[in-house]
Amino acid sequence: MLGAIDTVDFGDDDGRLAELYSYPQDLQTCWVRGNMIASLDGGATEDGKAGGLAGPGDRALFALMRDQADVILVGAATVRIENYSGAQLSVAQRQARQRRGQAEVPPIAVITQSADLDVNAKLFTRTEVPPLILTCTHTVDGARRRLGSAAEVIDASGRDGGSVDPATVLKILAERKLLRVLTEGGPQFLSLLIESDLLDELCLTIAPILVGGVARRIATGPGQVHTRLRRSHLLTDDEGYLYTRYVRGQ
Ligand SMILES: NC(=O)c1ccc[n+]([C@@H]2O[C@H](COP(=O)([O-])OP(=O)(O)OC[C@H]3O[C@@H](n4cnc5c(N)ncnc54)[C@H](OP(=O)(O)O)[C@@H]3O)[C@@H](O)[C@H]2O)c1
Repeated sequence: MLGAIDTVDFGDDDGRLAELYSYPQDLQTCWVRGNMIASLDGGATEDGKAGGLAGPGDRALFALMRDQADVILVGAATVRIENYSGAQLSVAQRQARQRRGQAEVPPIAVITQSADLDVNAKLFTRTEVPPLILTCTHTVDGARRRLGSAAEVIDASGRDGGSVDPATVLKILAERKLLRVLTEGGPQFLSLLIESDLLDELCLTIAPILVGGVARRIATGPGQVHTRLRRSHLLTDDEGYLYTRYVRGQ
């Protein structure tokens, strides 16, 4: 039925979910998927973190989307606040990735102007593949010296050497054949992608939770746009979470 919300059983419906969340076939350029969670009243965080909003279904989808991605792209504030490590994948997931011609583990790629990242953080110490640090001309040399072999530090500035240019980021990822891009935010970085018209789809989980307070939206930035997306699917589960996927209009 048009517009029906399908109930999903995490654990039983894994094959169907993998299909529902598969990236487009035969990509030649990067396809950028955003995966975010919001409370029912529009907050992107509870007590300053997204984790309090998540439920088991959302965690399962979070893992599935990581499993499908070639690279996980994230803003530095989220990395610091959520204490990111490298992606952790099971043996079965790694084997499936190999069969699909993907690297066993997708790297985390961090967008940062300051390159102010602690080399002792889990991002560098609990990972099998070094993260990509996408920074700007002004900070790239210092970051390379500080982070050494713990990371690959790349200048992703556009014309302005003082900030990272999102289109340049995607060009760099495409050159490395990292076309299935998953961004996990945060709101500032997601907004930059939206303003630059580079977000191809948004997978938004709506948690059945009210947070009130001053929590920000899932995208917050200076630029305003009007980008229409098309509904791909709506799912729910017994916990009352809503799992949506909206894709750029054809
Ligand atoms: N609800 C959700 O799904 C969700 C998802 C993710 C995160 N969150 C929450 O959102 C919060 C963090 O998000 P946020 O919006 O504050 O930050 P963010 O988007 O994660 O990261 C912002 C940082 O990215 C870097 N950056 C952004 N644009 C840049 C550019 N053009 N050039 C160079 N660097 C750039 C800067 O890093 P530097 O400061 O290093 O220069 C900036 O401080 C946390 O509370 C987290 O828990 C929620």
